[in-house]
Amino acid sequence: MFDTSIDADGIAVIAWNIPDRPVNVMNETTMAGFRDEVEKAIADDAVKGVVIASAKEDFIAGADIDGFLEDLSVEALLPQFLMFDKVGRAMETSGKPFVAAINGHALGGGYETALCCHYRIAADNPKARIGLPEIGLGVLPGGGGTQRIPRMLGLQAGLQMLLDGRKHTVAQAAKMGLVDEVVPPEDLLGRAKRWALDNPDATQPWDRKGFRIPGGDVQSAKGMQLFPAANAMGRERSYGNYPAVQAILSCVYEGCQRHIDVGLRVESKYLVNMIRHPVTKAMVRTGFFEMTKARKLKGRPEGIPKAKIGRLGILGAGMMGAGIASVSAGRGMDCVLMDVDREAAEAGKARAAAPLEKRVKQGRMGEAQMAALLDRIAPTDDYAELEGSDLVIEAVFEDRAIKAEVTKAAEARLGPDAVFASNTSTLPITGLAETSARPAQFIGIHFFSPVEKMPLVEIIRGAETGDAAVALALDYVQAIGKTPIVVNDGRGFFTSRVFATYVMEGVAMLKEGVAPALIENAGKIAGFPVGPLEVVDNTSLGLSLAIRRQWKKDLGDAYAGHPADDVFELFVETLDRPGRKAGKGFYDWPEGGSGGKTKRLWPELGRHFPRAADQPDVEEARRRLLHIQSVEALRCRAENVVTSRADADVGSILGWGFPMYTGGVLSWVGQTGAAEFTDQCNALADRHGPRFAPPDDVAALAA
Ligand code: COA
Repeated sequence: MFDTSIDADGIAVIAWNIPDRPVNVMNETTMAGFRDEVEKAIADDAVKGVVIASAKEDFIAGADIDGFLEDLSVEALLPQFLMFDKVGRAMETSGKPFVAAINGHALGGGYETALCCHYRIAADNPKARIGLPEIGLGVLPGGGGTQRIPRMLGLQAGLQMLLDGRKHTVAQAAKMGLVDEVVPPEDLLGRAKRWALDNPDATQPWDRKGFRIPGGDVQSAKGMQLFPAANAMGRERSYGNYPAVQAILSCVYEGCQRHIDVGLRVESKYLVNMIRHPVTKAMVRTGFFEMTKARKLKGRPEGIPKAKIGRLGILGAGMMGAGIASVSAGRGMDCVLMDVDREAAEAGKARAAAPLEKRVKQGRMGEAQMAALLDRIAPTDDYAELEGSDLVIEAVFEDRAIKAEVTKAAEARLGPDAVFASNTSTLPITGLAETSARPAQFIGIHFFSPVEKMPLVEIIRGAETGDAAVALALDYVQAIGKTPIVVNDGRGFFTSRVFATYVMEGVAMLKEGVAPALIENAGKIAGFPVGPLEVVDNTSLGLSLAIRRQWKKDLGDAYAGHPADDVFELFVETLDRPGRKAGKGFYDWPEGGSGGKTKRLWPELGRHFPRAADQPDVEEARRRLLHIQSVEALRCRAENVVTSRADADVGSILGWGFPMYTGGVLSWVGQTGAAEFTDQCNALADRHGPRFAPPDDVAALAA
């Protein structure tokens, strides 16, 4: 587990090298091993100083996250954490210098191990990330991070680091003072040993007499100003949905007023509670394991060689087409960007260039890099240019006739193995594929807007889509650095169908006379970035109305109708308030839609939807907005539109910002409890209609 050696100068190197694991991780076994190595080095009189290093590419990737899913008791967990505190304090106070030689990733407990050292040297490794990302998993940096970081950086900078959970590059880490020195990789060990030899009396600042936290202690005037503000900001960001936020604030507030030994014990107790918390389990399962699996294409059909997309055709040079061209060219693909005439295609290329120019101005991209990327986008109006494409994605108007025309024209130019994809967000793939001469090679690749920013891509398998097309689409999505889910065909597929229920429910509440501000706040308190009424304004009420009308036309008598339908009709047809672009929808957008900050709910809403005497409390409204989406997701699961809980959870979090604390739209059912969820939905169905009625066997569907 550890490669330990002692050189002629008496410097011991303890190099982490955990067998059978891709990265060095900290669990009960590896921690006990580390404790033994540290104790041996401290006890050995021949050892003058100790370098903590790694024999793998990373330094230490932190706590073994596999263990977070186990159901361990307080009695099993607490001794482990207290043991680590003891090892860390032994390193700090043994009288021998300890140096961290950070060669690669030093994350979570890995970086906290480095914090127990008197000095931290990092190799100049562009891949390495350094930081305390625990909050992203619902836990707190419990290996001493909440105690050592504020004592090192000061309370304000420390809290910021603990609460934002960022992973920093080596250069950033050096700038922030997280590492003391950066050296070329080949010099790392030598330099670390030298430092140990030169600093035999090293101590930690907090063990020196008269130590004060830089910038002021907790009880200083500054500290007293900081905590109420930090509490309020934490609350504003988390609405109490993320218990780790409060736990971190408490650890720093309580622990940093006392000696570090007491502070570490305070931290360990909070950590035990966080690790056992259902929110942590949900966040770890979906946010770490399922997302990693999705990125690694765990569901890719087997036995099909990996595809490399060298040439990509994009039909339609609008916002979506330009975005697709930009991200694909950015990953080295030659893109043919086609539109009805050359001018429109050129305009599409200019659209792709605009955000890049901004990045260059901000210094986040080099001029040469931008030029090379744009060189790979060839605007054209000639289908002949598509020849040689491995994949063609159409992003033309949501109109079946236009899509049929471009499908035929493009397919005539494609080789036998090439795949044709539609980026439709509303039209079922199986229907579109009817116009294709090769339906097995016809697939849906649904991007989200803005393409450059949104991490998810929804791949839709039509009734006739073959495995080879699915594999190629997955390989493409991976190549552009996004996360895919694969779903089966259906109206609105998975993501648009489920997200629509959030929006529609908000509008239904408005119609019932629920106070508009309550609706919007309930959405935010539930954890969505934007309230449901604002979402409709942003995407346009006209679009919502058009989609509902299309569904009604397609489904005929089977169309169930929704209370929100009349509201869309009223706002678009009668009130002429079609949404943000027009400057008016459910909100007034004073600066023609651009000034989001100056918007306000339209004061006349109350005249059209008189306030009901009986207002729901905000918790009831929050639950309603979450449950309606989970019920729809359960139906998607029952209809096999989505084929696993993992896809539903990952798709909901990355696709439309379903809140992370839930673990995703199906995990939310489990977190509520399947029986409880069913009862609550039945009660909602009695009050608001059958759209809340859960399908049979909720527990099995959500499992
Ligand atoms: N515990 C358990 N397994 C871990 C792990 C951890 N802390 N960190 C990484 N792994 C595993 C991954 O699951 C993956 O396993 P697989 O190969 O079986 O799929 C493997 O190590 C490699 O990780 P991967 O994410 O594919 O490699 P990468 O080079 O893209 O990223 C890291 C490496 C370390 C940056 C990334 O894995 C990461 O961020 N890990 C979590 C770090 C963290 O949050 N630590 C604090 C824990 S409280």
